[in-house]
Amino acid sequence: ETSLVNEEVEVEHLKQCLPKTTWMGSKQNLLIKIQDFWYLTNFSNILTFQTHFLAQDTDLIVASFPKTGTTWLKSLLFSITNRFVNPPNKTPLLTNNPHELVCDLETAIYGGNTGNSKLPHPNQLNELPSPRLFSSHLPYSSLPESVKVSSCKILYICRNPLDTLVSHWLFFPKLIKKITGDENFQPSNIEDFFEDFCQGEVIYGPFFEHVVGYWKQSLEQPNKVLFFKYEDLKENPSAHVKKLAEFVGMPFSTQEENEGVIEEIIDLCSINTLKDLEVNKSGSLSHFFENKTFFRDGEVGGWTRYLTDSMAEKMNELIEQKLGGSGLSF
Ligand code: A3P
Repeated sequence: ETSLVNEEVEVEHLKQCLPKTTWMGSKQNLLIKIQDFWYLTNFSNILTFQTHFLAQDTDLIVASFPKTGTTWLKSLLFSITNRFVNPPNKTPLLTNNPHELVCDLETAIYGGNTGNSKLPHPNQLNELPSPRLFSSHLPYSSLPESVKVSSCKILYICRNPLDTLVSHWLFFPKLIKKITGDENFQPSNIEDFFEDFCQGEVIYGPFFEHVVGYWKQSLEQPNKVLFFKYEDLKENPSAHVKKLAEFVGMPFSTQEENEGVIEEIIDLCSINTLKDLEVNKSGSLSHFFENKTFFRDGEVGGWTRYLTDSMAEKMNELIEQKLGGSGLSF
């Protein structure tokens, strides 16, 4: 009780002191900078997650900057790890949104009342069967200590910044409407948002520092962090699905390969299959998100319909500046 009161006092104090900024041209400051990254100003869930979550060695955690393919990676991870429990025609993926099967720690679990009874309460986490599957959008540096020191594994997905930026631009205004209660909210123009994104002033940003943090860990601790690129997954899904299965200690047998299990999983988790499921057409993940908003067109290079060549040029310079020499490219 006392510690919760202390946490509330601390959150209020931090809210006064930390840098804040607007988001997509919002009238109020909606983002606050904590430990070098931007979050919603109502950020106590982040601190609660950091201080209360206890990782288990068998946990598997999907990590990502938002809008980089999290939903896809969750559905693949769930299908791979549950393939001996549920036959493909009975998989819970047919009746649940992937975010209900691989829950986001800081928002779905530690974010308070979500309005979705399928999402577990923090007190129920120890009862979940192992391996527990979770996700987080936090940068590596801000993950709870127990995630870093335990043997739990992290699967990180990233995506080229231009498609990521456009996906943010089309997705987050709906959330801003909900949190501000301003149904008429219209985002600023995309040129301004482009500048903010490049400056790192975007939810869970800066983008490049987020990506590089996990990239470095994947090089230093290859058994702990597996790094995916959305574009690579699109280009050669079966190679990456195999890699994922090996990484989590559940490789496909030759018999499974011959029976086409990998292709079956890829088809099940494809955007077209998931988008057409009733649960993803009509359900809601929480007070804030309808399931259908997680599936748009899932294209590589779709940014060309929204951004100019000169923006792309500027982004390429930034990519060079931020990633040059790291071995990572887009
Ligand atoms: P677009 O907005 O470019 O279409 P996240 O899951 O991290 O929120 O990322 C959302 C992006 O992934 C969206 O991109 C969405 O359409 C795409 N996506 C969702 N499910 C997918 C799937 N099963 N396969 C490929 N892309 C998917």
